[in-house]
Amino acid sequence: MDKETMLASLLSIETSEWDREKRYTSLHEVSAYSLETLKSKVAHAPFRLTYHIQPPCGLLNDPNGFCYFNGEYHLFYQWFPLGPVHGLKHWYHVKSKDLVSWEDCGVALIPDGHINSHGAYSGSGFILNDSLHVFYTANRRDKNWKRSCSQVIAKLMPNGLIETVNDAIESIPPEYTEHFRDPKVWQEGELFYAIIGAQRKCDLKGTGVIYRSLNGKDWQFIGEINTQLTQFGYMWECPDYFCLTEENESFGVFIFSPQGLNPTDDKFQNIYQSGYIVGPELNLPNLTFSHGEFHELDFGFDFYAPQTTMTPDGRRIMIAWMGLPEIEYPSDKDGWAHCLTLPRELTLIDGKIFQHPVKELQNLRKEVIFKGYADDKSIIGRSAHFELILSDDSTFDNFELALFASDPLLLNNKDSAIEKLTVRYDSMARQVTIDREFAGIAFATKYGTTRCYKLSKPLTHIQLFGDTSSLEVFFNHGEAAASLRHFSAVNNNAIIWQGHKTSVTLWQY
Ligand code: FRU
Repeated sequence: MDKETMLASLLSIETSEWDREKRYTSLHEVSAYSLETLKSKVAHAPFRLTYHIQPPCGLLNDPNGFCYFNGEYHLFYQWFPLGPVHGLKHWYHVKSKDLVSWEDCGVALIPDGHINSHGAYSGSGFILNDSLHVFYTANRRDKNWKRSCSQVIAKLMPNGLIETVNDAIESIPPEYTEHFRDPKVWQEGELFYAIIGAQRKCDLKGTGVIYRSLNGKDWQFIGEINTQLTQFGYMWECPDYFCLTEENESFGVFIFSPQGLNPTDDKFQNIYQSGYIVGPELNLPNLTFSHGEFHELDFGFDFYAPQTTMTPDGRRIMIAWMGLPEIEYPSDKDGWAHCLTLPRELTLIDGKIFQHPVKELQNLRKEVIFKGYADDKSIIGRSAHFELILSDDSTFDNFELALFASDPLLLNNKDSAIEKLTVRYDSMARQVTIDREFAGIAFATKYGTTRCYKLSKPLTHIQLFGDTSSLEVFFNHGEAAASLRHFSAVNNNAIIWQGHKTSVTLWQY
């Protein structure tokens, strides 16, 4: 069967039927007509989001190449175009003037060269000689399916495609295994640095490796970042290093996504984690980074592989994949998977990262559905695409907030029958809980259906962003954040408050 014929039936196949041959099909091998057919089927699929970045079809994962260039933010993402599986990775491109309305620029990187024949993995963006350049991991496999990779510098051309400039790091230094990927570039004065996720050969543990360049094209290995986390998972994916200022002092922040941590108490509940360590700026000559504890960035169910960039006005912005590897999602059967989180501004308070949804999100506010006080047990409003802010003049008492809930009036107030995604607060324990046990189609239940977080101060403020099949919640102005997908029935859009009197504003998005 030729690939085109095989692909004609793609939308109806089960994830398990995606064999290696199907997964390694490039966009070049399918006609524009087949792709359009896939896209139009996906466009009519349930659970499509309304204001998040999502793939037109196929699977989205990590955000890549995030940078500001010539008055616009450019963002790419890992994309397997043809189905909801991890196959031959392409890069898809979107751009924006305000970080919230994104223009679709189509596919930017089709892995069709000898250098990236088996996929263009994650990487970052930077500006060189007035052009947007990227540094990414190019994969190859031999006849025996043995993988090799190199780290490639490439450039966004006027035709919208990313083309290879040079194979900057052709081979992996001998101390590391083939788990070596995801270069993230930063600049210090005239010099360029990059940190790459790696696995040591000596103990098969994860780490980050640093390179330096004078011209952005030729890179020299300088060594491994020297942290206290020497035995912390088997691989660190998607590293990112940058500085944040607190009280006029600059600190280094190192974000990475470790794989292989065991769950403990409320921590590390997802299949893989993403978090950060903070300390005095990385000492570049000897690569020592003295830092505090590793903190997870987000305690929700679906958050991975974040990447940051800096705005022209000096804000550090992070976007992540609102999904995780190796988990089947309910949208898979409709031929698409995943979305990105909303952009968040990062600040440092008492050495911890706070995350604030970027102020530009206010551009998405449409009418106010409700502004006033919610009391006792009340329906605040009905919406599946909203921003909701709850604040208490003093501090919150115990409450339960049900979102994407079925209408209790239609159910004769029988709570047990209500479908809902719940946010709860226990004021004694200062603990917030997200519970998706009763929220639509169950998935990833092997990893539990609740996530908890103990706040450092009593709760006074909550900001929530709901979209058809996603929810992002920020507690106490960004002390804690939780991101998750949910697959609730279309008509389940009631927002129900159960608790003491509290001030509420609800906007339609
Ligand atoms: C993280 C990751 C990266 C890799 C990419 C492949 O989700 O595994 O390490 O570059 O995804 O799609």
